[in-house]
Amino acid sequence: MIARTDGRRISITGLGCHVPDRVVTNDDLAELVDTTDEWIVERTGIRERRIAADDEALTDICLPAARRALEMAGADASSIDLLIVATVTPDMSFPSSAALLADALGMPDAAAYDLSAGCTGFVYAIAQAHAMVAAGLSRRALVIGADVLSKILDWTDRSTLVLFGDGAGAVVIEAVAQGGFLGFELGADGAGGANLWLPGSGSRRFDEPEKYVKMNGREVFRFATRVMVSSAEAILGACDRSIGDVDVYVPHQANVRIIDHAAKKLGVPDERIVVNVSRYGNTSSGSIPLALADAANDGRLGPGKLVLLTGMGAGLTWGSALIEWTHPMTGALV
Ligand code: ACO
Repeated sequence: MIARTDGRRISITGLGCHVPDRVVTNDDLAELVDTTDEWIVERTGIRERRIAADDEALTDICLPAARRALEMAGADASSIDLLIVATVTPDMSFPSSAALLADALGMPDAAAYDLSAGCTGFVYAIAQAHAMVAAGLSRRALVIGADVLSKILDWTDRSTLVLFGDGAGAVVIEAVAQGGFLGFELGADGAGGANLWLPGSGSRRFDEPEKYVKMNGREVFRFATRVMVSSAEAILGACDRSIGDVDVYVPHQANVRIIDHAAKKLGVPDERIVVNVSRYGNTSSGSIPLALADAANDGRLGPGKLVLLTGMGAGLTWGSALIEWTHPMTGALV
C-alpha cells in the first residue's frame, strides 16, 4: 500500500516516551549466556538495554509515555476518541491493552484496539490514525508503540537475547494548519513470517509449540537491508521528494549494521541519521518513537523539518512515513 496524503493537514502534536529503570549491559548478559560485549557491539552496535521489572507489564510502561504525549499536545485525555496500541506483547490476548489504557487514562469516548505488525507496528498505527482523522472518524488520536520483548525472550538463547530491550512511545495525532504527514508506504510478506515468529502463541496447534521468540537472524538481516531501502525510496518517489530533502532519517533501531547499510544505499549523510540502538537495543514498536524523542531532545526536530521514518519487523512487515514536522517537542522522554 502506498499513497501520498491530500486534503486536510494532519500531524504529530505531542510525543512522550518511557523506558523501564533497569539497565542491563552486555557484560550482564555475558554472565547468563556464552557471549561477549565485543561480539554484541561489533555485530549489532548495542551496548545496553532497558528491561522491565518482573511485575511490570506493557501498559505500565505505556502510561507515563501516553501522559507525557498528552501533556505536550495540551490535550485532555477525555478529548481522545481513538487509541491504537501497536505491540506484540500486550498485557494479555484480551482485553486489548488499548482498552485497559483508555480506562486508566480516562478516555470514555475512545475507540481502542491493539495492532500487531511487529517492529513496524508504530508506522502502521500512525498511518491508521492519520486515515481515521482524515476521514473525519476521529478528531484526536493517541497512538502508542510499545513492547516488552524481554517477557517473550528465551533468556538462555544468545542469538535473540542480546538484541532486544523494552520501551514505549506515544504520539498525539490531529489536524494542524500546515505541514504534517505527506504519505505512507506499508507492506507485508507472510511467506517470510517463520523467520521471526512465536509458533504456538495463538490458535494454530504446533507439535512443538514455542514459548519464546524464534528468529533466523541471517534471513531477517537480508530482508531488513532490502526493505529499509526499497520502502524509503518508494515513499520519497510517491511524494516527489528526494533523499537530499530529508532533514532527519529515523530508521527502526534493530541493528547498527542494518541502519548503516540502508543509510549508505540511500545516501543519507551521517548527521541526518538518528541512532540510539546502543542505549536501548531493539525495542520493537517502541523503537521509532524513542528515536524521535532523542532527535527532539537534541533539537533536531523542528517545524518545517522533513522527517523520514522507516520500520521493518515480524510479519514480515515494513513501512515508511514521510512527515513535514510541525512541533519542536523537547523533553519527550520521561
Ligand atoms: N554472542 C556470541 N556469538 C554469537 C551470538 C552471541 N550473542 N549469537 C550468535 N553467535 C554466533 C553464532 O552461533 C555463529 O557462530 P558459528 O559461526 O560458530 O556458527 C556466529 O556467532 C555468527 O553468527 P551469525 O548469525 O552469522 O551472525 P551475524 O553476523 O549474522 O549476526 C545477528 C547475527 C546480529 C542476529 C544478525 O543476523 C542480525 O542482526 N539479524 C537481524 C535481526 C533483527 O534485526 N531482528 C529483529 C527484527 S525486528 C522485529 O520485528 C522484532
